[in-house]
Amino acid sequence: MAKLKLGVLGSGKGSNFRAIADAIARGELDAEVCIVISDIADAGILTLARERGIRAEFVHPGRFRTKMEPDREHHLAQLLRDAGADFVVLAGYMRMVKAPLLDAFPRRIINIHPSLLPAFPGLDAWKQAVDARASKSGCTVHYVDSGMDTGEIIARTEVPVLADDTPETLHARIQSAEHNLYPAVLAQLTARAPR
Ligand code: GAR
Repeated sequence: MAKLKLGVLGSGKGSNFRAIADAIARGELDAEVCIVISDIADAGILTLARERGIRAEFVHPGRFRTKMEPDREHHLAQLLRDAGADFVVLAGYMRMVKAPLLDAFPRRIINIHPSLLPAFPGLDAWKQAVDARASKSGCTVHYVDSGMDTGEIIARTEVPVLADDTPETLHARIQSAEHNLYPAVLAQLTARAPR
């Protein structure tokens, strides 16, 4: 049976992408990453992909800060389609997704967010949790819609917030949870998906 193909989008260092690639290599996730795309030319996620022999592309986002310009997002969607992506996996992709991509991959775009959604959507969710003196936070995998971290929730992992946590120590603990949750959720989704 053909493997399901994942197109991964990220803006940062790519530790979630690495966790996904490692789970595939260990045989725990029956899929393949067909392309990795970033809106940041020198993002670590692109380097990690190239080191693994995976196609890695930078797509200039245009002049907007929180989303791609529509023609750039059309180009992004076309790259994903041409690469044969079945699912689009957002792994630290720091822009809102809009119609060009949402329409090209209906209910096929997944994101991981570093909080227990609906709490603390948006930027620096780990800092929001520390600032709010929350007793717990965590991470959430959800379908992506046009809102900010508002799509249907698929799974969450809870992580304690300790009294002496800084934003950095909390984010590190949340990231450990992310690296287990994301590959596990993708394994369930891909096992169920028609191919
Ligand atoms: C992750 O913690 C992810 O949850 C977060 O960015 C980090 C990327 O790390 N995403 C968001 O905040 C999206 N709203 P990584 O590049 O090491 O995977």
